[in-house]
Amino acid sequence: MKHLSALVSCSLLLAGAPALAQSPAAPPPVANAELKTADGKDVGTATLTQTPDGVRIAIAVKGLPPGEHAFHVHAVGKCEAPGFTSAGPHFNPENKKHGKLNHEGHHAGDMDNVSIPANGNLTLTVVNKDITLDKGKPNSVFQAAGTTLVVHANKDDYTTDPAGNAGDRIACGVITEGPAKAR
Ligand code: CU
Ligand code: ZN
Repeated sequence: MKHLSALVSCSLLLAGAPALAQSPAAPPPVANAELKTADGKDVGTATLTQTPDGVRIAIAVKGLPPGEHAFHVHAVGKCEAPGFTSAGPHFNPENKKHGKLNHEGHHAGDMDNVSIPANGNLTLTVVNKDITLDKGKPNSVFQAAGTTLVVHANKDDYTTDPAGNAGDRIACGVITEGPAKAR
């Protein structure tokens, strides 16, 4: 009898092992933003993925004006055309000043300018180490008020508080949990 129960528990262990090995690791949190212009034109998407180094933002945009444009995370999850002022100021959970060249900076939502080529289309991946997709953290993009990704008419000078002298907001997308819709 003793012998039998040892055998049974042994085979149970063996049976359980493959099931454990096959169970997939939890996928990293993902979010997306569908970017639209002030006149409602769809200009592409951004996919946000949590990595150990911060949030990776993969941008795929089309039909934006060529040149250097400021690109930020803003602190309110609302994109009301035409001005997109509804998106609020830069996402700034640490209450700093604007710009990576500002000695009192920078906002968590500050990122480098994006350079749109002559054909208006750009795919680019950037990493923002100051934000997270981890809900409940102060620097999470998942806040009660929401957050947005905003592209500006001009480039960010990386110093002028509060918004880098970047001009109008020309494209806006609410950061939403989950993968981007297939298109
Ligand atoms: Cu901005
Ligand atoms: Zn800023």
